Amino acid sequence: MLLLSRYMANSELGQLSGIRELTLNDVTDLQVVAEILNDPVNAIHFTESAKGIEDLQQLVQNPNYHLLGAYNLDREIVGTLSVVDESRDVNTYLIEKTAIRSDIQNRGLGREMIEKGIKWAFETPTNQERMRKILVLWVQEDLPGWERMQAIVYQTGFLQVVREPDLVVKTIDGIEVEKPSARYHLRRERYEELSIKGKYRTI
Ligand SMILES: CC(C)(COP(=O)(O)OP(=O)(O)OC[C@H]1O[C@@H](n2cnc3c(N)ncnc32)[C@H](O)[C@@H]1OP(=O)(O)O)[C@@H](O)C(=O)NCCC(=O)NCCS
Repeated sequence: MLLLSRYMANSELGQLSGIRELTLNDVTDLQVVAEILNDPVNAIHFTESAKGIEDLQQLVQNPNYHLLGAYNLDREIVGTLSVVDESRDVNTYLIEKTAIRSDIQNRGLGREMIEKGIKWAFETPTNQERMRKILVLWVQEDLPGWERMQAIVYQTGFLQVVREPDLVVKTIDGIEVEKPSARYHLRRERYEELSIKGKYRTI
């Protein structure tokens, strides 16, 4: 009974129909992802990396790169994140290129997408049939709206492992400025503990 009421509460909060890995065949969805990532509101939060449609088409052909699309209840793509299996012999896996369409941010979709992305990463085997152990992500600070990502990162159980006050260099209004960036880890054990305690809102 308790389980049922928690399940109902969670599904009431959910605004996404789900997330899924995109492939080369998802031409239209990859185009929308490129638009979301290149939107200046979002792009400022990323370090220089491939984001054009051709770059994304190349990335999805790499078996160690998993580009996920988040779909709303009307089955439109509203956000994206990527899980990168960086190295065959190291047990960390990077979450990057996390963004929600800029006109619908701060309404709970990002938290839901990241919760579902974490679940996907821990419950889907890698291309080498391994289960992921430690998810890693970086948050660049002191940029417009950066607090949202940090709030979600802590809410979903990540712990900060390092913070550099001058790691990233941004050009803002034509001037180069150094900004802090912090690295966070989420271990499988913590994900499982928080799942059992019902701490995730939407999974
Ligand atoms: C980061 C991002 C994915 C989050 O998605 P979102 O849909 O906007 O966020 P949500 O509405 O799900 O959650 C935001 C949380 O931040 C909290 N928050 C908002 N403003 C805040 C502030 N100024 N200080 C602290 N917390 C704040 C909200 O209260 C909410 O937490 P709650 O659910 O407990 O209330 C989205 O804003 C985005 O795409 N940003 C631009 C790109 C980016 O920063 N990517 C991350 C790179 S590491």
